[in-house]
Amino acid sequence: MAGVAEERSKSPRARLFVALDLPDELRDGVAAWGREALADPALRPVAPESLHLTLAFLGHRPEEEVEEIAALVRGSAGAAPWVELRDPEQRPPRGRARVFALPTLSPGAEALQVGLSGGLEEAGFYRPEKRPYWPHLTVARVRPEARGSRRPAVVAKPPGKLPGRLQEARICRRMTLYRSELKPTGARYVPLAQVELPGQGGSEVI
Ligand code: 2AM
Repeated sequence: MAGVAEERSKSPRARLFVALDLPDELRDGVAAWGREALADPALRPVAPESLHLTLAFLGHRPEEEVEEIAALVRGSAGAAPWVELRDPEQRPPRGRARVFALPTLSPGAEALQVGLSGGLEEAGFYRPEKRPYWPHLTVARVRPEARGSRRPAVVAKPPGKLPGRLQEARICRRMTLYRSELKPTGARYVPLAQVELPGQGGSEVI
């Protein structure tokens, strides 16, 4: 048994999550808004290319599972959902903020999340979180108040409202399985598998 545990701990692992990608025009709009709204020096804005709406965070999984997980993700494709972004909120809601996120209204994304997480859980790749699913777009994380500290810095100028035109409904047409690579400069998200979500009818797998 010890041998098995040892083998397991040695097997390479990938930190995985599945997300909806934003249409380019919405992603660019949020990024442009963020250049002013997230300019406080205590904030580390999420890079425009990294903005996404997480559906399921799998955590570290053995790399040999990736293909099967990708197949399940492709099999969970449903109709491309519309999403509406809302004004930024801090998390946690009280005390010093750790992150700022745009809450997202999207019954379609919630339906996709239910199907996806159910399938992944059944196959043993995913353990649902205890807290209910909160669809959101993280736009900035708060830097620590001092090097090595776990306490976030004070954000003197938290982000203000999101312009109305960025709160209008947009269709998200792509779902992606990402590997998250943690670097000292921040996380880098590498797409491993992508599915084009259909408007109506069948899905197109890339
Ligand atoms: P967040 O944006 O709210 O931090 C990659 O880390 C993605 O998976 C992020 O969108 C992150 O959400 C999400 N995620 C969900 N649960 C997570 C967890 N326990 N640890 C890290 N990321 C998590």
